[in-house]
Amino acid sequence: MSKLAITPKGFLRVAQTAFASLYLIIITGSLVRLTGSGLGCADWPRCSESKFVDVSSSHAAIEQLNRLFTGVVAVSVALAVLLSVRLRPKRRDLVGMSAGLVVGVLAQVLLGGLVVLTGLNPFSNIAHFLVSILLISNAYMLLRHAEIFRTTDVVLPRREPELTNKRISSLVRIVLAMTGIAIVAGTVVTGSGPHAGDENAVRINLAINLVAKIHSISVLICLATAGVLFLLARKDPISWRIVGHPLERFLGVGLLQGLIGYVQYFSGLPVLLVAIHVALSVAVWLGALDMYWNSRLPRPA
Ligand code: HEM
Repeated sequence: MSKLAITPKGFLRVAQTAFASLYLIIITGSLVRLTGSGLGCADWPRCSESKFVDVSSSHAAIEQLNRLFTGVVAVSVALAVLLSVRLRPKRRDLVGMSAGLVVGVLAQVLLGGLVVLTGLNPFSNIAHFLVSILLISNAYMLLRHAEIFRTTDVVLPRREPELTNKRISSLVRIVLAMTGIAIVAGTVVTGSGPHAGDENAVRINLAINLVAKIHSISVLICLATAGVLFLLARKDPISWRIVGHPLERFLGVGLLQGLIGYVQYFSGLPVLLVAIHVALSVAVWLGALDMYWNSRLPRPA
């Protein structure tokens, strides 16, 4: 084995690191916004016109730390792509997904610049957040694929998924789609709300109570659909075996997130609760994705 070769287990660790760093930067990015440090560095890629790195104020230091953490993320995804090509037997799936992470991080670096250069325009913020969701989904897929160890070059044809109950399968997709809609609606609430990242930043010209209502209705439809899925899947042992545990996890995190959503709304959007809400929104999405992945997974007979 050459010095640069990596074992599938070693690659799994690399994929876990990339996933963890991408999750963490979503949280640190939201803290930049919630502490009002969005324009802590008024320039990009330099922090200010005269300094590349500037920690002269707390806002600049927070924004600067987030930018430096981007370096950690970039190294973790670059490692993933470099090592994925060295895996034996060859894993084209892992190479493709790792390359997707590099492209996504490059897009995020540019979008992050756009957020700063447009003075925290809410639509550039929304795009930045939604691309983060795509990136973390890509990292999650990489993780799940990296967990499948292969010992030969022969790739067995993918068997038809075992979930034959069409109604359950459709409900899983509807829950995934509704979670996506709830997340997009949530970003519009943020764009219309008080946490812009800087007191002078423009806001979407929509009443926050109206958009929050639309957001919460989409969440209620999503959770109600998941509830129906739960009741139907319980009656069908095969479906329950496939989606039962991921569905229970999804419902647990989704209900907690819904509760936090209402509490933060009625308590004037305190920073800590909003930060938890942002972090959990990623967990809810990954929960829905996990359930979908499980429903498509070929299983041993
Ligand atoms: C499964 C449940 C939920 C999910 C997945 C979810 C997701 C999200 C997301 C992704 C954001 C935008 C984060 C950002 O742009 O940084 C958001 C913001 C928000 N959500 Fe939810 N949400 C859920 C439930 C609720 C509920 C039930 C309410 C009740 C009204 C609510 C109220 C809010 C508010 C007020 C904001 C704006 C916070 C801010 O000012 O930044 N959410 N949500």
